[in-house]
Amino acid sequence: MGNHFLKNFEGFSKLNYKDRLKRLQELGYLSKKDLEYLYLGSISNNLKERIELTQCFIENALGYFPLPLGLATNFIINKKAYILPMAVEETSIIAAASKTARWVCKEGTIKTQTLNTLSIGQIQIPKVKNYKKLKTDLKKNFRDWKEKINKSVLSYMKKRGGGLKDYELRLLKRPDGESMAILHLHIETCSAMGANIINQTCEYLKKPLEKASGEKAGLCILSNLADKRIVRAEVRLKNQDRKLIKKIEEASLFAEIDPYRACTNNKGVLNGIDALMIATGNDWRAVSAGLHAYSAQKGAYSSLTKWRAKGSELYGEMTGPFMLGTVGGVTDLHPTARLSLKILGYPKATELAGLACALGLVQNLGALKALVTVGVIEGHMRLHIKNLVLKAGAKTNKEQKALEKELIKILKKTKRITLSQANQIFKKLKQKN
Ligand code: MEV
Repeated sequence: MGNHFLKNFEGFSKLNYKDRLKRLQELGYLSKKDLEYLYLGSISNNLKERIELTQCFIENALGYFPLPLGLATNFIINKKAYILPMAVEETSIIAAASKTARWVCKEGTIKTQTLNTLSIGQIQIPKVKNYKKLKTDLKKNFRDWKEKINKSVLSYMKKRGGGLKDYELRLLKRPDGESMAILHLHIETCSAMGANIINQTCEYLKKPLEKASGEKAGLCILSNLADKRIVRAEVRLKNQDRKLIKKIEEASLFAEIDPYRACTNNKGVLNGIDALMIATGNDWRAVSAGLHAYSAQKGAYSSLTKWRAKGSELYGEMTGPFMLGTVGGVTDLHPTARLSLKILGYPKATELAGLACALGLVQNLGALKALVTVGVIEGHMRLHIKNLVLKAGAKTNKEQKALEKELIKILKKTKRITLSQANQIFKKLKQKN
């Protein structure tokens, strides 16, 4: 299956724009209508509808800020072939993800696993008067509250197998010597991200909780540190160059023990994850915040990923919270998000979370491989040259090709290239012609 899948996308990045879209149509990922939609700029071509949509998303709307939408190819995850839509402005992220996925597809495996699926809603009791009594009151009333909530606020979720499941009470010491109690509600939101419904559930319980306990409640809000909604991804590569994979292990250790490196490492992981979240209309800030907080849970900020070399085998893993959805909110409203979900085969939230985690891990492997071999500059700059060519003012195809050729020569020779060099060379090329 791997080779056949890879063949479908061979030379995909070299195709021109229209042929690339046509290939996706031929492969059954896109319809003729989807192609027209993408040609026209990825938002409704009906002016009224376009304006209505912006007003519905945000306030004081002025228009859109379109990000480029691309596709990472070559992913086989849990033995299933995927192409992953990514909305991102940074050069070389999609190329690196596709190239690394191709390597893994040919020589290894990617597996993901959903460890649990519950979201957390928090109700704060800022200054708890009697924690012991609060605990007893909760024990006494929770079953009743759960039933009421699952029949009202969460009835829709309950019908789909979700709803309020459980709770946890936590006690925290305040800096002024008093104590704060936090009630966590564990809620299954199925394929919805669930932010609004979780917040509504917490608000709903505030009054009954205050009445039963005599305590005064404070904030009612979900937690983005969704550590009961955890996904795990692992990559295994066999028969690898031992020196290379040992270097990848060393790079991993660097990020595991040094927060300065961990932050950059995790930024690279999020290059992939955020791009997939944006493409599918998800709240990427929620996922990013969750992953950063999770990576600091052992007491110090650390790497989200871990790589180990054993003989000629490389093993990598990543575990983290993914508070995302594939139904509701922007995922339903934004036509490009719908299109991205269509390309993915309309996954459930757990499946999308697995894809995001796998993409982050593969993106990280690509970055580490580049860093321990040629460095990231060469690959990045080669692709970035296209930006420089445009910035230097090359307009015609002939001008662009000629300038690109000269810049590639300089990059190969000096390993660096700047906009002022591009400007100078373009000036000279113009004088020559
Ligand atoms: C750049 O966008 C991401 C990297 O810095 C990630 C990393 O250093 O691991 C290349």
